[in-house]
Amino acid sequence: MSVTRILIVEDDRVVARDLRQQLTRLGYEVVGSTARGEDAAGLAQSTRADLALTDIRLEGVMDGIDAAQQIRLACDIPVVFLTAYADDETLRRARLTEPFGYLLKPFEDSQLRTAVEMALYKHDADRRLRHSERRYAATLASIGDAVVSTDPEGRVTYLNPVAEALLGCRADEAVGRCLGQVYRLRDEESGLPVAPCDAPRDQGLLLEAPGPRLVPVEQSASPLIDDRGQAGGMVVVFRDLTGRRAFEKQLRDAQAELARVSGLTTMGELAASIAHEINQPLAAIVTNASAGLNWLRRPRPEVEEVDQLLGRIVADGSRAADVIRGLQALARRAGPDLAPLDMAVAVQEVAALMRADIARLGMRLRIAPVDAPAWVMGDRIQMQQVLVNLLRNGMDAIRESDDTARSLAVEIDGATPGEVRVAVTDTGDGIAPEHCSRLFEPFFTTRPLGMGMGLAICRSIVEAHHGRLWAEALAPRGTRFAFALPVAPG
Ligand SMILES: Nc1ncnc2c1ncn2[C@@H]1O[C@H](COP(=O)(O)OP(=O)(O)OP(=O)(O)O)[C@@H](O)[C@H]1O
Ligand SMILES: [Mg+2]
Repeated sequence: MSVTRILIVEDDRVVARDLRQQLTRLGYEVVGSTARGEDAAGLAQSTRADLALTDIRLEGVMDGIDAAQQIRLACDIPVVFLTAYADDETLRRARLTEPFGYLLKPFEDSQLRTAVEMALYKHDADRRLRHSERRYAATLASIGDAVVSTDPEGRVTYLNPVAEALLGCRADEAVGRCLGQVYRLRDEESGLPVAPCDAPRDQGLLLEAPGPRLVPVEQSASPLIDDRGQAGGMVVVFRDLTGRRAFEKQLRDAQAELARVSGLTTMGELAASIAHEINQPLAAIVTNASAGLNWLRRPRPEVEEVDQLLGRIVADGSRAADVIRGLQALARRAGPDLAPLDMAVAVQEVAALMRADIARLGMRLRIAPVDAPAWVMGDRIQMQQVLVNLLRNGMDAIRESDDTARSLAVEIDGATPGEVRVAVTDTGDGIAPEHCSRLFEPFFTTRPLGMGMGLAICRSIVEAHHGRLWAEALAPRGTRFAFALPVAPG
């Protein structure tokens, strides 16, 4: 441990000399000595003294008490007074300089040592206390919550800057007043007054803030417990909830908006899907109905023909109704009506529906032969929709290209265990790489009259059947859209 460095301020040279000897004997280092109060602070600084021993009566204008004050200001070291006079007035003045001890002359070595050690200890404890107070004050000043502390009688002892701003009251105005005089609270629901010290923790509160305005706050109060376990006042912490409430409102609005928009999107997609899927049966109904009218308007109406056409109209009408029901179920995320279905049969049905159109456009449709039924669990109408859409896209692709093969094919492949794969291929120009990732998005289209719903509907249907749908580029030209469905059990 380093030796304690002591400064002597004493105008009696003999006393000063004796003191120096006494201190040296006790193991201290005397780093300076002066008879004049005016020189004391400068000397304490330049010698980096740890403590000053100061006589109260000094020669010169400045006495020891003033010198002590200057020393404390200059270098914050403890000062111990030496005096032969302990009159009340002198002691009162000396006390103002926060002395760390008195020694009444004459004194023994042991008294001197005790006074020096006590002063050093007390000064160090004071310094640590001040440091810790500064740390708490800085912490309380920097936190975002309002903090108010009180004494045991509920009188305010401290307000941090956030509390000053929130309560509209400076700390020096609030200190010493009762909590109830500094701020008032109301219950958020009933609007009735609530005593600040009884405010429950989880209750919504309104603070009567200056303005006047009511600020929603959250308050928590904790008792300050002293060394003997007794409540010695309390610390009240407020949190201004205005920002949080505004944020919560924004969040609620955003959620409501999101729900509205996603509801709209689903509704929009449903409407678009119905429009998309219903076109074909509607067109067929109109064609058959006008053909029927023609048969009826003949001089001799052909009842048999009309009967057949009406039968087709009924079939197309109920198909359209089934399509709409299926799409509504898809939009509700309800599962499809699954029943064992031979994909080979579904393919034949679709081929029958579309062959005339395909031929009219000068295209060929090849259905690859299958040697065994390909059973899946599926909704017949929805499987037909998938095949119709994929074939239509193939037809569109061929129509847009200068391809001369103009061929479409449907193949069923049962080679992968547990799966039935169905592929629709065309000899069109293929898919631009930059479009690959967006093909299945609703409303994505590259076609002037396209709605961009075909593939989105196909994927929804296939996924509702626990299957997968994907696209592959074919060499040298063309595209294959394929889907895989789990085979029907048993
Ligand atoms: N066989 C194909 N060959 C090349 N591109 C294709 C093929 N099938 C689909 N596409 C591309 O995917 C896009 C989306 O197809 P989708 O069937 O979803 O909509 P669409 O055919 O444009 O319009 P619609 O809603 O009337 O079917 C098409 O615009 C096209 O760019
Ligand atoms: Mg399409």
